[in-house]
Amino acid sequence: MPKILVVNGPNLNLLGKREPDIYGTLTLDELNENLNKVASELHFDLQFFQSNSEGSIIDFIHGYGFEADGMIINPGAYTHYSYAIRDAIAGVGIKTVEVHLSNIQEREEFRKISVIAPVCINSVIGYGARSYEMALAYFSDNRQKD
Ligand code: DQA
Repeated sequence: MPKILVVNGPNLNLLGKREPDIYGTLTLDELNENLNKVASELHFDLQFFQSNSEGSIIDFIHGYGFEADGMIINPGAYTHYSYAIRDAIAGVGIKTVEVHLSNIQEREEFRKISVIAPVCINSVIGYGARSYEMALAYFSDNRQKD
């Protein structure tokens, strides 16, 4: 079964408690559990990782990115300025879909820029927890293509 890494960056461990009007009431564990159900229907094996630290996210991408078939990443605020995470994705060459719960195009100016998007094959933004499911659907729809 193809393996997809699911990486969540800083503050996403607070999902459910954190600004629920923006990010919803689902916890990260619940979100991951729901995503696992979708993954089993689509025949994907998911490996989850969350960290609040840039270096740990980079180390995880280095450690697992070469052997995995794809990655879904919500880099949190690192989206907007982490050239280091961007370089890690480019460095391992893993097919990556960037996701965001909120619509970063409709919020503060600083959120409108993603330095991660240019090294991703797609971005899904603004659908809440469904953004992750849509990213998985994208991997499923494009399974054959290289
Ligand atoms: C986020 C959007 C980011 O701007 C923010 O810093 C987050 C969450 C989202 O999923 O909507 O932490 O990535």
